[in-house]
Order: sequence, then structure tokens, then C-alpha cells
Amino acid sequence: MWSKNKLTEILKIAYPIIQGPMSGASTPALVAAVSNAGGLGSLGAAQMSPDQIRNSIVEIRSLTKNPFAVNLFVPENNNKPSKEMINHANKILNSFRKKLDIELSPDLKPLPFTFNEQLNVILEEKVPIFSFTFGIMSAEIIKQVKDKKIIVIGTATTTREAKLLEQTGVDIIVAQGSEAGGHRGSAADTQIEGALIGGMALIPQIVDHVNIPVMASGGIMDGRGIAAALVLGASAVQMGTAFLTCRESGIHQQYREKLLASTDESTRLTRSFTGRYVRGINNQFIEEMKTHQESILPHPWQRFLTRDIVSAATQQKNTEFMPMWSGQAASLCREISASDLISKLIEEVNKVIKNF
Ligand SMILES: Cc1cc2nc3c(=O)[nH]c(=O)nc-3n(C[C@H](O)[C@H](O)[C@H](O)COP(=O)(O)O)c2cc1C
Repeated sequence: MWSKNKLTEILKIAYPIIQGPMSGASTPALVAAVSNAGGLGSLGAAQMSPDQIRNSIVEIRSLTKNPFAVNLFVPENNNKPSKEMINHANKILNSFRKKLDIELSPDLKPLPFTFNEQLNVILEEKVPIFSFTFGIMSAEIIKQVKDKKIIVIGTATTTREAKLLEQTGVDIIVAQGSEAGGHRGSAADTQIEGALIGGMALIPQIVDHVNIPVMASGGIMDGRGIAAALVLGASAVQMGTAFLTCRESGIHQQYREKLLASTDESTRLTRSFTGRYVRGINNQFIEEMKTHQESILPHPWQRFLTRDIVSAATQQKNTEFMPMWSGQAASLCREISASDLISKLIEEVNKVIKNF
């Protein structure tokens, strides 16, 4: 039976279908709906304050008795940029601020909480599953989490990263292909040019090099994609974009419409919004920033500096200046409820296998 394996046993889920954590989009309602339908819902908590994380966990627990995951970013050691760098970045970004009619050259405002404060909530709440992206979490933190009997999932974009993650003690690895929506989950020392590996190439290579279960992510939208990932050796799939157009997702209407109208040529990889490579639907901001790459601050500083642009563009419903993260197969998105999506996916996998 395709739906039962070591991974589903570890995660205590009925089907090897994981709704990927998505900062800003994975609402407690979405997470719980996926977990209630037999998959695994994941809360993208990296941009949330400790209080918001705790409240979301309480809400998820009020909506489902099934396991769910909470996701954070591996903290990065990028020092605060110099005044000159910030001034230069602001000078470039001011042209967008003028178009949005907002204040020019704002101060750089970091998030008012730390990774450790976020992690403490996860430990105190003893969530069933903790996942992370952006490289290799220290073995010390992994041990701290596992001591609480929390299952740990790390993200790899290369075989080298997958092996390092296994060494630190994670239970499961997400193999993130270059098709994937959202940020590249690469480690700080991984070169982007060499690490844009498509899922078809990445999944079997990672599967061959680690002894723990692997879940495939990137461009998987329906039963065909799930069956293909399982054939390549993955034990499960992690799908993001497919859940963005579900009724329970937290994205706004204009973004939803862009996803539904997209084609396989719609996305770009860009550093312009956050300072880290991320895949999203192309727009004027991404295009115009192509000639100002030297002004981009390292992650997360660029993210802090563009926050006013993102929030004004969102308020003004201006899709040309807002981020719209998406994988390369968004044209296969469906506008249904998360539980209907899971039912359809299961039905499709069964059909693909029967007809193979
Ligand atoms: C809007 C959006 C936000 C995301 N945020 C996160 C995140 O906070 N943490 C994370 O590990 N992955 C994040 N991802 C990646 C997804 O969890 C998932 O691995 C990816 O979307 C799979 O590729 P697909 O979109 O082609 O299905 C995000 C993806 C999207 C589309």
C-alpha cells in the first residue's frame, strides 16, 4: 500500500502528504484541515512572535487532535550592514516607495524577538513535529528538541546538506527541488548556481545517500507528482503552492488570482525582496531590481528594509510590488478546501498506480 511506510509511522499520519510550512499563508485553519484529513499540516512560524506562535498552536490544537508541525528558519550570522550599505539600499528602494506614496528611507527595523524565544515556545508547547529550513541546525538544538520527544525535519537542497542534516540527528529530510515555491532552503555555504537541482535529479540522489526517510518537495501538485516522487524513492511529498489556493490559506485575493492565471513561465528566483533566493511570480519589483543587485542587503536585512513596501503594496492591492511566492507548477492549482484537495490527491494516486 503506497500510503504506509516508515515516515507515516514516525509522523503518525494516514497519508504521506505534507502541507509545507508557508510563512504568512499556513493559517491554523489550513494546518488543522490538512491534519484532520490524514495528511500533516505545518505552521510556517518563522516570522511570528513567540506569542503569535503560542496562540496559533493553541488554535491548531482546538481544531485537531492529529499531529502537526511548526517550522522555523535556521538563524543566520549576517551582521547588521553598515550605514552606507543601508543608505544605498534605501536609495534604490525609494523609487518604489515613491510609487506607493509612502515615507522614504525608513530605519532598518529588525524583528523584536529572537530565534531562541521562538524555539522556547515550541519546546514548552511540546509540539509533535518541528521542521526547519535555511541549512543545518546545530546538533545541540536538535538534541534539545528531540529530548522533548519532538520529531525533527530538516530541509536539504543538495546531497551534501542532506548528509550533514542526518549527522546532526534529524529524523526526516525534505529534498527541496529547484521547482519549489518560496525560499531556497540552502545552507549559507552552498552556492546557488550549483544547488538549483530539479526534483527528478535530487530525490534519488539524496535517497541513496541517507538512511532516514526523505520527503520530496517542489512542483508537486497532484496524484501524478506524488506517485512520481514515491517511485523516485521518496517516502512522502511536501506540497506548498497546491495549498495556497485552498480556501483556508491566508493569502489575499489578488495573489490567489495571479496563481490561478499563471503558467509554467511565470516564476523567477529573486533576492530582491529578502536578500535570499526565493521563487515567486514575476512582477515589476523583481524586474526593476535586476539592475540593482549590488544594493541588496544580506538576509534577513533586505527583508526588514522592504517590509514597508510589501505592506503598502498589499494594502493597496498592488501585485507589481508585493511578493507572491510560488512553485513552477502553480498553473495546476485548484480552488477547493484543503480536505477536498487531500481526498482528490489520494484518489488520483490510486488511479495512477492502477493504470500504470
Ligand atoms: C508562500 C510560501 C511560503 C513558504 N514559507 C516557507 C517557510 O516558512 N518555511 C519552509 O520551510 N518552507 C517554506 N516554503 C516552502 C514550502 O514549505 C514547500 O516546501 C514548497 O512550497 C514546495 O514547493 P511547491 O510550492 O512547488 O509545492 C514556502 C513556500 C511558499 C509557496
